Amino acid sequence: MTIFAVVNTKGGVGKTTTAVHLATMLATSNKTLLIDGDPQASAASWAAWRRDTEHETSPTTTCLTGKAIFSEGKGLSSGFVHTVVDAGGRDSAGLRAALLLANVAIIPVGASNLDAAAMTDLLEIVEIAKEYNADLKVRVLLTRVDPRTKDTGEMVEFLKEQNLNLLNIRVCERVAYRRAVGEGAIVHEIGKDRHAIDEMDAFLAEVTK
Ligand SMILES: Nc1ncnc2c1ncn2[C@@H]1O[C@H](COP(=O)(O)OP(=O)(O)OP(=O)(O)O)[C@@H](O)[C@H]1O
Ligand SMILES: [Mg+2]
Repeated sequence: MTIFAVVNTKGGVGKTTTAVHLATMLATSNKTLLIDGDPQASAASWAAWRRDTEHETSPTTTCLTGKAIFSEGKGLSSGFVHTVVDAGGRDSAGLRAALLLANVAIIPVGASNLDAAAMTDLLEIVEIAKEYNADLKVRVLLTRVDPRTKDTGEMVEFLKEQNLNLLNIRVCERVAYRRAVGEGAIVHEIGKDRHAIDEMDAFLAEVTK
């Protein structure tokens, strides 16, 4: 049983995109819970759109905010093989609660200097969480990478300096992700972009191995 928390204090980095893909891929083989921990409720919107589609295997989706992500999430997640929390942006009670609940924190980050600068406060929050949740594993996922350039170098250096565990897979900026999530689906179900599907399969393999 693994509880994943997809976290970053920065907005628009791909938390919801990552969380719905991970939860739906996990749900194809095991009972999976998707906790929407963001008051903006983007994952819940995705789940609502999904109900109007034919897609069969879905995670069970629920909304929790603030401390309830830990207190209620703990009991709820025990009924599932896997749980994925889409934690809201900003340094919130919900973000901290998600980091206490999780076994694995996945931090999607963009490749820019701004993304690196914005990580400092998140890393402090992660350090505090580890004092209470000593077994928490932290995995950084480079997302929205421009496939035409190789300008992830500085970010990779920064992450190394912080001794952060960077996943090998990089998720590129691809229209398929935006389209799929906007339709209550994942890239596999849209089926149009082989590269996106391969990225998500490799991501799943890396975080579950
Ligand atoms: N790999 C990608 N390729 C193209 N578009 C992407 C990708 N990842 C995310 N997006 C798009 O970027 C926007 C932000 O993504 P997403 O909602 O997943 O981020 P978030 O971190 O959850 O944002 P928020 O902080 O608002 O919750 C969305 O419009 C989404 O469709
Ligand atoms: Mg989001």
